[in-house]
Amino acid sequence: MQLTNILTLLTVAGTSFVSAGPVPVARQAGGQVDTSLIPTDFGFKAGDGKDKVQVGSCTGAANKPIPCDCPPAPDNATFIGDLSTALNQGFFPDPSITVPINLTRFNDKSDTSAQTNRDRATAMVQVLQSLSGTKGVGCPGAAFPVLIAQQQTGQVGGSTASVGNAGRV
Ligand SMILES: *[C@@H]1O[C@H](CO)[C@@H](O)[C@H](O)[C@H]1NC(C)=O
Ligand SMILES: *[C@@H]1O[C@H](CO)[C@@H](O)[C@H](O)[C@H]1NC(C)=O
Repeated sequence: MQLTNILTLLTVAGTSFVSAGPVPVARQAGGQVDTSLIPTDFGFKAGDGKDKVQVGSCTGAANKPIPCDCPPAPDNATFIGDLSTALNQGFFPDPSITVPINLTRFNDKSDTSAQTNRDRATAMVQVLQSLSGTKGVGCPGAAFPVLIAQQQTGQVGGSTASVGNAGRV
């Protein structure tokens, strides 16, 4: 076969490949988390108890020092976006931290089981702890005792009194 024929074949093959249709996307963009399933109060607000226990820090559960930009507001766009990403892709921020629940189950309001409430809380905690997008660089558990309590008890809106160990999750 002559070179020109081979080139013609390659061109034809290339053309037919391109005209075969849109290239499939690697991953569906996925939907967004239902924010009504996120507690409206994490237990503290960014800036609470500034310099109280440690100069330059703010104060969280059990008087633990926490960064003053922690926690983000429950409706913070970065948090909501990262949580949605986690629930769609199954991990956050990288595959070494798998989330125990997917978007479908998180958003299923009819599912009020303790296990699902725990898993919802765990996913939120995991995202908050790596909120910067880098593993482990985010807010400590002491900044959001309401979510730690939900993670421990499976109850939404329960007491945070047992969350003395909130920094260790
Ligand atoms: C949302 O949270 C991110 C990460 O902590 C922070 O950088 C950003 O300023 C927050 N957005 C608002 C509107 O507070
Ligand atoms: C989400 O999780 C549920 C229960 O674990 C499972 O039945 C369902 O297939 C999952 N959905 C997706 C889209 O992965």
